[in-house]
Amino acid sequence: MSDQEGPDDYVLASGTEADLDAVCAIERLSSPSPWPRQAFVDELARPWARLEVLRHPATGRVAAFCNYWLVADELHILNVAVLPEERRRGHAARLLRHILEQAARGKVRVLSLEVRVSNLAAANLYRKFGFREVGLRPKYYADSGEDALLMDLEPPT
Ligand SMILES: CC(C)(COP(=O)(O)OP(=O)(O)OC[C@H]1O[C@@H](n2cnc3c(N)ncnc32)[C@H](O)[C@@H]1OP(=O)(O)O)[C@@H](O)C(=O)NCCC(=O)NCCS
Repeated sequence: MSDQEGPDDYVLASGTEADLDAVCAIERLSSPSPWPRQAFVDELARPWARLEVLRHPATGRVAAFCNYWLVADELHILNVAVLPEERRRGHAARLLRHILEQAARGKVRVLSLEVRVSNLAAANLYRKFGFREVGLRPKYYADSGEDALLMDLEPPT
């Protein structure tokens, strides 16, 4: 990021195939088991799947993305990831606010997600937005055998 730009300069937009190089680069820098590009291509074709990016309008740079499923009255968050040098600037919070707006618009009854038990930054992010820990999936992650923490949020009606 140059001195002239800040997190507010990024614009939230629906992700397209043209964003996938950037999305996959963020994913590789963010996850011990990054999704392959084809997984994102497949998501773009699913009517119930959403990919959102924070893109700089002038440079086209993508700082962060999230993807989630909206099925009936449930919203399941699959990924929220931010370029390492763009972290702690509010990008993930902005994506979460957008997800909660979408949930309110779609009359979603419950939002859910899984997070690695060691991922304190992500768990804190979700807690900040009202998610509660509701269970544990033992050895959920095949790469490390780590447990997944299940979190959910029932938005106010
Ligand atoms: C988790 C992640 C998405 C947070 O993104 P971010 O843009 O840095 O988060 P924000 O700046 O919007 O911070 C929002 C809140 O998240 C929490 N948080 C974010 N980073 C944190 C950290 N390193 N340690 C503790 N809490 C953290 C805080 O509660 C923070 O609120 P605060 O700034 O008022 O303290 C980012 O660290 C990331 O991309 N990690 C790798 C990918 C990942 O683990 N994704 C989640 C998979 S489920």
